[in-house]
Amino acid sequence: MEKTFLMVKPDGVQRGLIGEIVTRFEKKGLKLLAGKIMVVTEEQAKTHYIEHESKPFFGSLISYITSGPVFAMVWEGKDSVALTRSMIGATKPTDAAPGTIRGDYAVEMSRNLIHGSDSVESAEREIANMFKADELVSYEQATAKWLY
Ligand code: PPS
Repeated sequence: MEKTFLMVKPDGVQRGLIGEIVTRFEKKGLKLLAGKIMVVTEEQAKTHYIEHESKPFFGSLISYITSGPVFAMVWEGKDSVALTRSMIGATKPTDAAPGTIRGDYAVEMSRNLIHGSDSVESAEREIANMFKADELVSYEQATAKWLY
């Protein structure tokens, strides 16, 4: 089973969308291993977005993600990285299909509501940056036999 790191960004928290977003992944059949409201430190933000360090928007990305509380989560399931990325939708809200989270709720690229890991390797790094190992709970998912 694959783990992924998802994070409702400060705009999603302030707009009251945590519940709506969590519900979508639960209904899909993914298993929530960890979730917490937290304020991302500047150091965590820079580590999280390290691959975009040279991009012109890096500074505003760091300010945005540290501007208020986020809801950080670890989800697990078969192909969870690809599944959640498709449910999140394109980075640019005008390109995001209706039915996706950004397609349904986001307007601006710089306020695109949610982050999702783009690979299993990124997910491992992003989880370690935001969670301690003992914050992830291991349990049996009752619906697993109907999903897989
Ligand atoms: S790139 O250039 O294709 O690698 O960028 P991309 O993967 O699309 O985006 C990387 C993350 O930066 C965010 N982003 C922006 N934030 C603010 N302003 C602008 N112009 C901008 N462009 C991209 C984008 O949402 C990605 O963040 P995450 O959290 O991974 O969604």
